[in-house]
Amino acid sequence: MEFSNLIASRYSVRAFRPDPVEDEVLHRVLEAARLAPTACNLQPFQILVLHTHGRETELRRIYRQPWFVQAPLILCGVGLPRDSYVRSADQRRYLDVDVAIVMDHLILEATNQGLGTCWIAAFNARAAREILRLPDEVEPLIFTPLGYPADTPAQKERKLLTALVRYEHW
Ligand SMILES: Cc1cc2nc3c(=O)[nH]c(=O)nc-3n(C[C@H](O)[C@H](O)[C@H](O)COP(=O)(O)O)c2cc1C
Repeated sequence: MEFSNLIASRYSVRAFRPDPVEDEVLHRVLEAARLAPTACNLQPFQILVLHTHGRETELRRIYRQPWFVQAPLILCGVGLPRDSYVRSADQRRYLDVDVAIVMDHLILEATNQGLGTCWIAAFNARAAREILRLPDEVEPLIFTPLGYPADTPAQKERKLLTALVRYEHW
């Protein structure tokens, strides 16, 4: 898909068809995550791929909306704080930025492949840790279902550029 159209056509999909995601298509989506830039190229992340079939009840403890488990797959972006870049001047850690870029790459490639996604931050982190058997030192940061959409996009509501951009100084 042409890039500007791709950006405009991505939307939060909240209804999915049960059709499987082909292995080759999943590979392209994961490859986009692998190619994402990260601070100092440290790649402090893992992508967990979850199959929803037969695990619906358990997975809905992570995020309760029924559409969360409608797609055949769920991906979780997990950050590895110990491996991430920290700015020495003020100790600011860039882990969340890195994982956001990784997930955005993945989500845009998913859109390019005709798949639907939805960023999910409002999940139960404790349930995620338990169900995904995450070690204490890693951080589940974002989930998305991954499957073929069964809904249609609404009109995009966004602030005007004039409300979002400043030039030369605050
Ligand atoms: C970091 C982040 C976290 C989000 N968390 C959730 C969530 O927990 N549940 C949900 O339904 N949507 C969530 N969203 C989706 C936003 O509500 C959505 O992206 C926004 O309303 C714009 O709509 P659009 O994605 O259709 O363009 C999240 C989006 C982002 C970027």
